[in-house]
Order: sequence, then structure tokens, then C-alpha cells
Amino acid sequence: MDSFVNLMSPLTRVNLPKHIAIIMDGNGRWAKARGLHRVEGHARGVKVSEDIIEVAHDVGIGYLTLYAFSKENWQRPPEEVHALMGLLKAFLLEKKQKMLDKGIRFNTIGDILKLPQDVQETIAMVKKETAHGEKMMLTLALSYGSRDEIIRAVRAMFSAGLETSSVNEEILASFLDTALMPDPDLIIRTSGESRISNFLLWQGAYAEFIFEECLWPDFDQHHFMAAIAEYQKRERRYGKTSEQLM
Ligand code: FPP
Repeated sequence: MDSFVNLMSPLTRVNLPKHIAIIMDGNGRWAKARGLHRVEGHARGVKVSEDIIEVAHDVGIGYLTLYAFSKENWQRPPEEVHALMGLLKAFLLEKKQKMLDKGIRFNTIGDILKLPQDVQETIAMVKKETAHGEKMMLTLALSYGSRDEIIRAVRAMFSAGLETSSVNEEILASFLDTALMPDPDLIIRTSGESRISNFLLWQGAYAEFIFEECLWPDFDQHHFMAAIAEYQKRERRYGKTSEQLM
């Protein structure tokens, strides 16, 4: 692992993305290509997530957000949904101590009240115990859809009795599930699909996108480092000219 960190020159460390978000796609196709059940693809996907969490932490990424379960994923066969919930719970129980040791704060975005009660309780416990982690915030998007998040935020603003004239970008952002984190600088999607799939629509307004050909179970720390290097080569202008940025 250290070798990856050592590979980074002091210059590349300066321009690191603060927040990387990943759409982990392709578990099913990976399993199918090997004659395995889809769930085995997800199990392998969790292992890859663990490696990427580790390297993101070691490199010094402050915020890592992983799209683990979308609102639309509830429509999958019940056995697959059940297996994904089981993998999620096992991940949290197995990795809690490592998160504590490494200063990782666990967080979620999405409508987690839809998750099974035992999974909700495990999430609440891990969030509470890791709340003091300061090195990296690990966020799992669970039962997440960006449009749903925005609707929930607007409803919460109405309930809070906000004056319409007081609503601005900052206020709306503070009602989103992501209120605790900066916008993503870099969004990576695996499996060769070039779609955003209802992920961080508001927050990704100025993000760089990298669409990676390989399936999530084949994604590794080299791909992750290469994506950061690609990000560092891009110039982010936020609508300004290059001269204005100088
Ligand atoms: C997309 O693959 C992936 C998912 C729907 C779930 C992703 C979840 C994990 C990798 C595990 C959760 C991670 C943690 C850390 C608990 P797909 O099934 O849509 O693949 P396909 O498009 O090839 O069918």
C-alpha cells in the first residue's frame, strides 16, 4: 500500500481532490461472465470497496462517497436486495474497528428509513461510534436518489417555514443529505456506462467525471490512482477563463 502513497510526488499531493464519489457499477456482469450468481459479484464488489477505502484514506482524500444502493435498486429481485443488505451489515460490523483505528467517520446519504430495521440500527451504531473520526469521511449512498433527496430537502424547508425570498443555493444545500460535506471534485463510474444515474445531481454541478471501462470487481488501487492523476491534469474553470483563474 505504501508504495502507492510513495508514488505521489509532493506536487500531486497539493492538487488532490477533497471529495471523490464513485458509482460502483458492473458487479452483475462480472459475475455473469464467470458463471457465478450476481450476489457473488456484489461480494467481490465489497472487497474492492474495502481496498479503495483504504487507499483513499492513505493518500489523504478527505471525503469518499460510494453509491452502494440506489432508490431504483429496490426493484431488484428480493433475494438480491436481501443479500445486499446482509453484505452491508456485515461490512459495517467487520470494519467498524478499522474505521475507528484509522480515524474514518462513517456517514450515509439517502432515505435510510427504508432499510431493514436491523441494518438501520447497525448504521446508527457505527455512525455514533465513529463520529470523532477526523481523517476521512466515508459516506455510503443507501436507498439514494438525487431527485428524491432534493424533494425531501424542499419539504423540510417548507416544514421549517422558510421565507421564499430567503431560499438560495446555500440554504438549499444545507437541507440536502450532503450538508456535512463539500461538493465532489471527482465522480468516477465504472463498467463503461457514461451516465450519472440520479447520483449527486446538485452537488456534482462542477465535478470532473471519469468513466472507467472496467467492471467494479476489477477496479483496483491502480485504477483509483490513475483517476486521481487524470483529475490533476484537468483544468477546472468554473465558467471562468484561464486568465481569470491565474
Ligand atoms: C452495481 O452493480 C452495484 C450495485 C447495485 C451495488 C454496489 C454495491 C457494492 C459494491 C457493495 C456495497 C459496498 C459496501 C462498501 C457495503 P450491478 O449489479 O448494477 O451490475 P450490472 O450493471 O453489471 O448488473
